[in-house]
Amino acid sequence: MSDPLEQPGDSIAALERIAREADAYLASLSTAPVRLARSDEAAEAFGGPLPEEGRGTLATLDQLIEGGLDAHVRSSGPRFFHWVMGGTTPAALGADWLTSLLDQNAGGWDASPLASRLELISLRWLRDLFGLPADWDGVLVTGGQMANFTGLAAARQWWGERHGVDVSVDGLAGLPQAPVFTSGFVHVTGLKALGMLGLGRGRLTTCADSVGAMNLVALERELRALDGAPAIVIGNAGEVNTGLFDPLEGVADLCDEYGAWLHVDGAFGLFARVSPRTADLAAGVERANSVISDGHKWLNVPFDCGFAFVRDPELLARTFAAGAAYLPEAAEDRPIFAYRAPELSRRARSLAVWATLAAYGRSGYRAIVERSLDNAARLAEQVEEADDFELLAPVPLNVVCFRYRPPGSAETELDALNERIAEAVLTDGRIYVGTTSWAGKVAFRPAFVNWRTTSADVDLILETLRDLGSHA
Ligand SMILES: Cc1ncc(COP(=O)(O)O)c(C=O)c1O
Repeated sequence: MSDPLEQPGDSIAALERIAREADAYLASLSTAPVRLARSDEAAEAFGGPLPEEGRGTLATLDQLIEGGLDAHVRSSGPRFFHWVMGGTTPAALGADWLTSLLDQNAGGWDASPLASRLELISLRWLRDLFGLPADWDGVLVTGGQMANFTGLAAARQWWGERHGVDVSVDGLAGLPQAPVFTSGFVHVTGLKALGMLGLGRGRLTTCADSVGAMNLVALERELRALDGAPAIVIGNAGEVNTGLFDPLEGVADLCDEYGAWLHVDGAFGLFARVSPRTADLAAGVERANSVISDGHKWLNVPFDCGFAFVRDPELLARTFAAGAAYLPEAAEDRPIFAYRAPELSRRARSLAVWATLAAYGRSGYRAIVERSLDNAARLAEQVEEADDFELLAPVPLNVVCFRYRPPGSAETELDALNERIAEAVLTDGRIYVGTTSWAGKVAFRPAFVNWRTTSADVDLILETLRDLGSHA
């Protein structure tokens, strides 16, 4: 019973079981609670020792579906606004299922010509979508974190070579501390990447104005003081709490003038370039040395997917090359993407990326981005018109940072009040938003990237928070 070899028909039965469930599940995304009050309890119900005799394929999937649907979060649905998480377009969802069915290793052309070819095309199409130079190249990775790691690994390799050292071969010993500069908008994954790369997450210098954006005067002072020594600058296209941007053209000017490496984190903000309404925010990105973005945010492909682009792909090759007798060699027109990325064996993420771009094209993505911009603008307007909510930051893109502030409330009470509402949101289920701290205040910061979100979903946000706030 528990040996899969004795159950040859189980694979198709398993897929059919999930497909049957998918119909009702997809319909439930618009209406069912985003998170059930009992979800933690339902997750706890999974447990027990490793079974000696397995339960079999279908009984196990039944348990996973029954318990799993209570314990999961409908984060791919239209009323999930926390962090920056997209859903999955129909083409990406289908392609992702196919990815599991085909179970390709995207490590090289010999393992999968399909995955490699589609990665080549996907990266070209993404460069085109974002208006990045055609002679750049890149690689698909698991998300923004690994994309930042990959781009900054290329930066570290460049910086070492400027000192005459091949860091990937000889390490960092004997080199000075690498000067790294950023603004107050840097994402925690950029810091973590610096830590993983041995550059030290605590060793970078922040040049920020009073809001947090890159202070160009301070950055210039720092770069000039280096007296020609190479430096790395991290520019931020889309701060996670507000969607604010560093002045990237000015940052690029300084990097040009002082010969510094410019890495831009555009995990969601790079998509500003997809609409003429917001493209100016991310002007200057095309002058960077490395740029990253995320697939599982605004591209709306399933977790996990991100991409790193570099002006000089050879730096990635020198950083991530892995030669062994049993491994293939890269050819000019057939790059081995595993030699540009941290991982050797790799999920074939290119199937979903290629499929969603092929299915909806440039105009489909412009529509998704502009719908998200409209949703953010709608919420910002509602907040500004309400006398019980307060907008805490401008809304240049797709994130709205605000708090509940009923008339007559004491400033000292507001942080705790907003935290209590956030707690209540989790068990309420109508929407899912979380809090952050902005300008020293506890704030909500819904982000709009999901292709399914409608204006009716947006209207639920203040309605729900006001309702919960009146009892909090
Ligand atoms: C600006 C920015 N950079 C990086 C990341 C990290 O992305 P991931 O969660 O895909 O690793 C995020 C995620 O929210 C982000 O907003």
